[in-house]
Amino acid sequence: MRDFATTAPDAAPAAPSFDAAFLHDPYPAYSQLRAAGPVLWRDDVFQGAWLLTRHEDVELALRDPRLSSQRTGGWVKRIPGVDASFAGRRAQAGLDAFQRLFGSAMVFLDGADHQRVRKAMAAGFHPTFVKTLRVEVERLTDELLDGLDAGAGFDFIAAVARPLPSRVIGLMLGIPRADEARFMAWSDDLAAFIGALQPTAEQLRAAQRSLLQMVRYFDALLPARRREPGTDLVSRLLLAEAAGDIKADGELLAQCAMLLFAGHETTRNLLGNGLYTLLTHPDAWARLCADAEGMPLAVRELLRYDSPVQYTGRRVATDFTLHGTTLARGDLVIALIGAANRDPDRFTDPDTFDIGRRAGSHLSFGSGPHVCIGAGLSLLEADVVLRAVLRRWPGLMLAAAAPRWNGIAGLRGLAALPVAAAVSVS
Ligand code: HEM
Repeated sequence: MRDFATTAPDAAPAAPSFDAAFLHDPYPAYSQLRAAGPVLWRDDVFQGAWLLTRHEDVELALRDPRLSSQRTGGWVKRIPGVDASFAGRRAQAGLDAFQRLFGSAMVFLDGADHQRVRKAMAAGFHPTFVKTLRVEVERLTDELLDGLDAGAGFDFIAAVARPLPSRVIGLMLGIPRADEARFMAWSDDLAAFIGALQPTAEQLRAAQRSLLQMVRYFDALLPARRREPGTDLVSRLLLAEAAGDIKADGELLAQCAMLLFAGHETTRNLLGNGLYTLLTHPDAWARLCADAEGMPLAVRELLRYDSPVQYTGRRVATDFTLHGTTLARGDLVIALIGAANRDPDRFTDPDTFDIGRRAGSHLSFGSGPHVCIGAGLSLLEADVVLRAVLRRWPGLMLAAAAPRWNGIAGLRGLAALPVAAAVSVS
């Protein structure tokens, strides 16, 4: 498969620009895009990509074997200035190592390779096992909430949404709490790169540095874990490696790094976007205060209404035609999950937040072979945290007029969410 498009499709660009207003609120732009047509070419997305906005097309793209998940080569090579920025043998070797690791993560594998790696991880995410984590997630949540003075106010992102998922994935991988700040910083560099619609050479450089550091960190953990395996995910991957199901070194380390990243960059934003949405919809908040058993359905609606992952990509493996447009082998396709979740053909009043909504299924965890392996874990975390916050502070309110978004198009979340409660009950 060729790495990127050689033919520049000549469809007219769709109207909205992906500027600061888009990063603040992408939903009006998605509506415009959806109205402009089902398959749209944009030069300003990854140096050229097809955008899909309809629910049925996004779902098809995620399930269709004519679209490949192997897309990291063009992602890196097509960044403007990358040749100059990575000139010289050492810089090039670093870039090659980054690309090899990045491209070995399960989410970028196809077919038998993907199935092999996914199978090796499955037990660590089995619903029965995830259920056993509830007590630990509750303990970690209480530990964070106990230290807060809601009367004085606090930033929910810094105090809860950031540390909680990172502690949970740290626990699952068996990495010490003392290293939390380091891996959160590495992971944030990866998020800025992975979540950019037009990644820069600078973002690539930071992501490369952090991924290589992360991998070195895991590499140093392996000998002890080999000698004394536990029930953590790294030990499970080592057992799979011993059984020949995971290739040693690069492939194993790439999964560790990706899990660390995926385990908290996304759930953080489910917690942050979720609390923000609830606090800006007082009726929903009051209903949940009165009956927290509505939480699972509410979390499902929170995911649909403001998804932490706004899009994912695929590379065309075989030419095919969609709604009269030919997608050529090598073209990049961006499946806009955030737009699909607001498709009026799939959801009644899609821009209305309705915690009683039952019809229609969101695509926030993807669909098909790559559907999120950590979905159950993040649903558990959201359920535990949001229930605990409601229980402790039913009078919680926003403490700032306008929220500050993180500015990352693909991984939508708040940079800060100041909140306060008039009265704190235990
Ligand atoms: C609200 C939280 C989360 C959201 C919105 C989310 C979203 C997604 C989406 C959309 C995909 C599919 C990507 C694609 O098809 O290209 C995916 C895959 C994946 N997610 Fe999540 N995720 C979340 C939490 C987690 C957690 C907690 C973990 C791990 C601890 C995790 C690990 C993964 C992995 C490993 C994959 C790749 C699966 C595969 O390729 O088979 N995610 N996630």
